[in-house]
Amino acid sequence: MVFKVKNNVSWVGKIDWELRKFHGNELSTHRGSSYNSYLIEERKVALIDTVWAPFGKEFVDNLADRIDLKKIDFVVACHGEVDHSGALPMLMHHIPETPIYCTANGVKSLTGQYHKEWNFKVVKTGDRLDLGGKELVFIEAPMLHWPDSMFCYLTGDNILFSNDAFGQHYASELMFNDLVDQCELWEEALKYYANILTPFSALVTKKINEVLALQLPVDLICPSHGVIWRDKPLQVAEKYLKWADKYQENRIAILYDSMWNGTRVMAERIAEGICSADSQVDVRLCNLAKTDKNEAINEVFKAKAILMGSPTINNGILTAVAASLEEIKGLKFRGKKGAAFGCYGWSGEATGILTEELKKAGFEIVCEGLRVPWKPGREGISQCLEFGRKIAEICK
Ligand code: FEO
Repeated sequence: MVFKVKNNVSWVGKIDWELRKFHGNELSTHRGSSYNSYLIEERKVALIDTVWAPFGKEFVDNLADRIDLKKIDFVVACHGEVDHSGALPMLMHHIPETPIYCTANGVKSLTGQYHKEWNFKVVKTGDRLDLGGKELVFIEAPMLHWPDSMFCYLTGDNILFSNDAFGQHYASELMFNDLVDQCELWEEALKYYANILTPFSALVTKKINEVLALQLPVDLICPSHGVIWRDKPLQVAEKYLKWADKYQENRIAILYDSMWNGTRVMAERIAEGICSADSQVDVRLCNLAKTDKNEAINEVFKAKAILMGSPTINNGILTAVAASLEEIKGLKFRGKKGAAFGCYGWSGEATGILTEELKKAGFEIVCEGLRVPWKPGREGISQCLEFGRKIAEICK
């Protein structure tokens, strides 16, 4: 499949409807994804990025049907991760001398993965590549989301090729933001930001403001995953600025796991307590052992406070909760409150461990964690309700 993006710019990538896991098994992709590659055919021809390795042959065959590969003057590798560079070895086999434009870190990542001595041309922010009238302007974007990441901007057509930034794991044959279901689109864009870009929020803000300050006309933003932003393209940049600024909604997420339902009962009664003290706050309960882990991260991303619960097992916490904490820690959420809870039979360390881990993850601990022995009875339930009311008041 090839389709026209604008004038002499075509999409030559791959829509992957079957993808359900990404980054190994780290990220769920319920709506598939796409690996967007763009061909610019001005007097000079440039190819921006390729596709994931399993689709390498299909990509190169399709491209060869579209254009004599030897007519490609420049390959631009905005990012070395394998979902965009995977087809490079197969492509470069046909055009081994063709220069590959990338950042200095791009050379490191591409040679580190493929061990080939390709004809690299290192570019920095502000460097330009003349395509015969129109130019590609390079903008380094380190840690959005790898050190090698960069954007490039096509003058004349006013297209920002943003690579992973502004992407979504969202397969659609419609390919433009104004044509697809808006709820699905924004859900996927948020999930992508929350689960991938959150740790780099400070850099996201800086880079977007830097690009906006250039006051370049932007008619299209072409990311490397999902649909192209054609209708009000900068709306996604504005949304990113909000998401990067300690984003939160009027929500409290209660994340827990339970062995024999004691901690589940606590979670539900704490939720009841919160709601009784604040009828406006949206409380979300999430059993971490039964919920898609990336959907759980979405809940953390949207929450102003999270409560984490686990019963004590072997002087520790349940593994689903431990795994989620590890992920939450890595994502470096800021500006959120937290507290812990859990039931126990005898030693009861879980609540203390959760409190310490939440603190290490950057959450402001708003009160001492709640421990209830065995399964909550009348007194335990009353403590949970009171705990919930207290959390609601503190977080108002
Ligand atoms: Fe879509 Fe960082 O690769």
